Amino acid sequence: MIDKIKTLLQEVDGLKAANAEEIEALRIKYLSKKGEISQLMNDFRNVPADQKREVGQYLNQLKEKAQNKINELKDSFADVQSGDDDIDLTRTSYPVTLGTRHPLSIVKKEICDIFARLGFSIAEGPEIEDDWHVFSSLNFAQDHPARDMQDTFFILDHPDIVLRTHTSSVQTRVMEKSQPPIRIICPGRVYRHEAISYRAHCFFHQVEALYVDKDVSFADLKQALLFFAKEMFGQETKIRLRPSYFPFTEPSAEMDISCNLCGGKGCPFCKYTGWVEILGCGMVHPNVLDNCGIDSKIYTGYALGMGIERITNLKYQVKDLRLFSENDIRFLRQFESAN
Ligand code: DAH
Repeated sequence: MIDKIKTLLQEVDGLKAANAEEIEALRIKYLSKKGEISQLMNDFRNVPADQKREVGQYLNQLKEKAQNKINELKDSFADVQSGDDDIDLTRTSYPVTLGTRHPLSIVKKEICDIFARLGFSIAEGPEIEDDWHVFSSLNFAQDHPARDMQDTFFILDHPDIVLRTHTSSVQTRVMEKSQPPIRIICPGRVYRHEAISYRAHCFFHQVEALYVDKDVSFADLKQALLFFAKEMFGQETKIRLRPSYFPFTEPSAEMDISCNLCGGKGCPFCKYTGWVEILGCGMVHPNVLDNCGIDSKIYTGYALGMGIERITNLKYQVKDLRLFSENDIRFLRQFESAN
């Protein structure tokens, strides 16, 4: 009997299985009630008393070894199996490198969120526009020198179709289709025929805001501007309005904020003036309202427009605006924490 046990011990040691069924077959062969080991246990009764001790020890060893071996096979098999059995199709493969929002998108969102808190909703318009929406409806007379303020890209053989030079074109698109109260914020890309340098590009981004209703006044504009400046650049920010000219607003102004680098004391960034320019604004010219079918005798409105690159530069001190369109990951990664 000892020889039989020894043979089984060797056999058990070398057990192998390729799948769950094979393991189960081995378990039955060795460990079930009618299995080899149980039979040996039965035969144990007939072992002469003086050999019982030795045989008993071998038998126990065999039983333990068989059990361990089968558990071991089950375990190793469970590892490989988990992929097949409960495969999780929704689990992302990794490593997953998360992208980050572009700095211009971060700032655009921030601007839109601030105006949303004042009740403005987002409106968008086409980048390829007609002359009417970009210029004529906005009170740019044909041949008026103001058209030269913005170097325009024309579509070949279509003198009437342009790449919009400003998002003010969305103003008229919305006013033509709806009646006051109108309170919109229009973010988007604009194009100008400029030589590309660290401070100019042939495309950039703007946000336009427009509010038209009864009794909208310059004081309302000023209040909205002050709110925007404080929310965007910090509560200590001051604003200053300087008279300016735009064909579509009367009166028109440009807004400066107290330099957010030196707090208004004067530094190289603000050229020692303590102020930096951030946007253009004014009361919507009555001609513009009338052009869009809104009665300028009943309604008034204010409008403002700003460059997103400019605001981003002020917030993050980006010295060269070409960086915004070069997709250099080393630059973009620096805005990870602002996402
Ligand atoms: N459209 C102007 C530009 O691109 C910006 C602007 C100025 C928009 C005054 C306005 C405004 O709505 O009132 O330079």
